[in-house]
Amino acid sequence: MPTFTLKINNKIHSVEADMDTPLLWVLRDQIDLVGTKFGCGIGQCGACTVHVDGNAMRSCLLQVSQAVGMNITTIEGLSEDGKHPVQEAWKEIDVPQCGYCQAGQIMTASAFLNRNPNPSNSEIRNAMHGNICRCAAYNSIEKAVKVAAD
Ligand code: FES
Repeated sequence: MPTFTLKINNKIHSVEADMDTPLLWVLRDQIDLVGTKFGCGIGQCGACTVHVDGNAMRSCLLQVSQAVGMNITTIEGLSEDGKHPVQEAWKEIDVPQCGYCQAGQIMTASAFLNRNPNPSNSEIRNAMHGNICRCAAYNSIEKAVKVAAD
């Protein structure tokens, strides 16, 4: 099995995997970064969202061989103390219900706010619409992104 060198949360990891193994499974099963969740496995739900060179990407669709040479950030590496402004806003608004999709939501929101620090409500809705929440906490999610932006 080939070995891949990955930069994840500013640390270098060597992993053995088939070329087409989804990054999601390498993160969860080999590096024990289980904050990134499996929802659908086909790029439809957003639960597996991580940052790849600062862009929100679905780790279920990214093969490990494609992640070499990129800066991968997971929810565990978003901030050193768990107090990224988006995480703080999530707590303030008390967004999570079951919580399962929240890491993906936060990773999508934080990448979006890096690009657009002062979004309108409709821009927030557009940016977040691909992240499914089975509890339908969409109003709270939108509110929290707004709070994080302020
Ligand atoms: Fe990747 Fe659903 S698990 S988008």
